[in-house]
Amino acid sequence: MTGYRYSAALALLALAAPYAAADNGALLASQCYQCHGPNGRSKGEIDTIAGKSASDIYGDMREMQQKPDVDIMHAQARIYTDAELRAIANYLATLR
Ligand code: HEC
Repeated sequence: MTGYRYSAALALLALAAPYAAADNGALLASQCYQCHGPNGRSKGEIDTIAGKSASDIYGDMREMQQKPDVDIMHAQARIYTDAELRAIANYLATLR
């Protein structure tokens, strides 16, 4: 019986994991809006990032993460793990 409960709990965790990652994307991406505009839609000089393809955003972030540049956006890119960058990119791509 305990064994059954344990595996049921594991099954629930496995189901919940992808949703947790998606929610995480929305939360993490909110950090970008202070510079890229509310919901990623810029009203100033900095690019709009909402609605770009996930692969574009992820690709740009990975590139910036790996270069040694010291500007603000490269510093931003470096603070995220690969999984976090994917979650952010996937989320931003859903904003139209
Ligand atoms: C503190 C301000 C700031 C924050 C916060 C910030 N950015 Fe940026 N970002 C910039 C600036 C400034 C540029 C322009 C850099 C350039 O063009 O050289 C930029 C450029 C970019 C670019 C490249 C756009 C292009 O078309 O070349 C992407 C993609 C990007 N940011 C994504 C993000 C994401 C995703 C986040 C949140 C995880 C984020 N940024 C958070 C300031 C910021």
